[in-house]
Order: sequence, then structure tokens, then C-alpha cells
Amino acid sequence: MNPMKVLITGANGQLGRDMQKLCQSASLDVTAAGSEVIDISDMRSVGTFIGGHQVDVIINCAAYNAVDLAETSWKKAFSVNGLGVRNLSIGANQIGALLVHFSTDYVFDGSLGRPYTIADTPRPVNRYGESKFLGESCIRDLADRYLLIRTSWVFGLGKDNFPIKIIRGRKDKQELKVVTDQVSSPTYTMDLARATLDLIRKKARGTFHVTNSGYCSRYEWAAHILDQAGWQGDLIPVTSDVFPSAAVRPAFSVLDNFGTEETLGYLLPDWKDATNRFLKELELTR
Ligand SMILES: NC(=O)c1ccc[n+]([C@@H]2O[C@H](COP(=O)([O-])OP(=O)(O)OC[C@H]3O[C@@H](n4cnc5c(N)ncnc54)[C@H](OP(=O)(O)O)[C@@H]3O)[C@@H](O)[C@H]2O)c1
Repeated sequence: MNPMKVLITGANGQLGRDMQKLCQSASLDVTAAGSEVIDISDMRSVGTFIGGHQVDVIINCAAYNAVDLAETSWKKAFSVNGLGVRNLSIGANQIGALLVHFSTDYVFDGSLGRPYTIADTPRPVNRYGESKFLGESCIRDLADRYLLIRTSWVFGLGKDNFPIKIIRGRKDKQELKVVTDQVSSPTYTMDLARATLDLIRKKARGTFHVTNSGYCSRYEWAAHILDQAGWQGDLIPVTSDVFPSAAVRPAFSVLDNFGTEETLGYLLPDWKDATNRFLKELELTR
């Protein structure tokens, strides 16, 4: 049997890299396209590029993730996170491919007080969340076959993510302040990529929440990272008003993985275990 043919867009991002690595190690036929190869917001070039690549699955790892900048550059965010998904949906239909796309816990307002299930109604509180919600609407309305995966607090190699900022921020410092009023589930790209490939293989369709297990505040996550790094300084719990930012963040945007566990047959590892593996991977690459 021929190996599954996969096109990965946004291939140089955190998730794109690990998705690529995993698909290659599974001996799939992989075309990896970074933003320099395909700009998903450009309708015509998406059509031409996809038309020239008869693949079984398109995995879209491309996104505009600058949450604060999106408040002002909202047209850019809407073009990539919204219209880009429209373009890919139409392209996937043209070649009969499954479209796999990722959305975010930030489509929810964070006020529910319990983890959000796939049955809960999105109500974004910032432009980034709105742009990702537009992408969700596009894939649902347009793609013939799709897998929409919401995830949260993504970390992996290739970007200045939260763990890297904390590790770097501790250097030469005796005190660090981190917020307690943002709570979600840190999610490691290696685990997310593996679960995504398993969902594709199981022919899953529709919407899934996929995160590492458990949840924590930014403060608790930082405390764990700093503990692993053997830092001896003072970690001070603060609330978000100490760090004024352009975009409001949801307070409690944990995603309930109900439906995912039933389909995959497993839960993703705990966020602490995932963070430890990432910190090891970071060490190996330095
Ligand atoms: N990061 C998080 O905390 C988080 C949380 C929840 C959900 N998610 C979602 O999870 C998915 C993966 O996120 P990630 O953290 O791996 O993203 P990432 O590291 O920010 O990578 C995104 C990639 O998309 C590329 N890109 C941007 N605009 C593009 C365009 N117009 N056409 C093609 N490629 C473009 C970027 O390339 P350039 O660098 O060249 O622009 C970058 O390589 C995304 O859908 C994201 O929204 C992320």
C-alpha cells in the first residue's frame, strides 16, 4: 500500500516542525511548506499550490499567533487565521483531501468556571480569538472533510514560548513575577502531533479538544519550570493588571478532552511530564 500523502502548511512553526518530524518517522509521504513556500492568506497561490500536490491530507499548522499585536493588526490576523482557512478548505475540496486545522482555547471567554467541552459556545474576548473563531466557521462551513483540533498554551522548539521565556528570564534575577489569574493546559507539540496523527489514522472527523492532561495557572507552570531548573529566587504571584497588555486573556480556558479520549483510547500525558520532556529536549539542542 502507498504511504499516506501529507501536505503540512506553516511547517516551520513549533507544531509544524514536530508534525513534520513525526510524519517522516512514520514513513509518510510528506511535503512540508513554510510561509516562504505558501502564504495561506493568498487565495490564488493556495489554489495553484494545492492543485499541484495531490495529497490525502493537508495539516494546517500556519497561524498568526501574536495575541496582543492582533488587537491592532487584526486584518492580518483575520486574513491568516480566518480567510487562510477558507482558502485551504476550498483547496482541500478540489483535490478531495482531508483538512486538519488547529484552533485555540482563546475562542472561549474563560468565565464558565469549568473546563469547556466541544458543546460549549465560543465567545472570544480578543481579536486573536475572533480570528481563530472565524477560521473555525470557515472550515465547518466549507470543508467537505475536516478535523478541527482546539488546543492551548502550545510549546515546542522553534519559538520564544512561555517555558523558554521563563528559563531565560530567571538568568541573573533573584525575583520573578508571574500571573495566577490565567489558567489553562500547557500542551507539548510532540504530544499534540502524535495525537493528531492518531486521530487522522482513526478517521476521526469534526471537532476535538486535544491538550496535555491537567491544568495550571501561568504561575504554577513557571514554578514547575523554575523548580526543574533549580532556581533559588523568589517567584511572586501577581494578577494580570500588573502587566497591562493590549489584549484581554480568558481567565480559565481549560479544554475538556471529552470525546478525544474515547476516540484515541488514551489521554495525553500530564502537563508536568510534558514540560519535563521539553526541558530535556531544550538542553539537548543547546
Ligand atoms: N502558540 C500557542 O500558544 C497556541 C495556543 C492555542 C492554539 N494554537 C494554535 O496551534 C497551531 C500551531 O501553533 P504554533 O504555536 O505551532 O504556531 P507558531 O509556532 O506561531 O507557527 C506558526 C507558523 O505559521 C506561519 N505563518 C504565519 N502566517 C502565515 C501565512 N500567511 N501563510 C503560511 N504560513 C504562515 C509562521 O511562519 P512565519 O514565522 O514565517 O510567519 C509560523 O511558522 C496554530 O493554529 C495556533 O493558532 C497555538
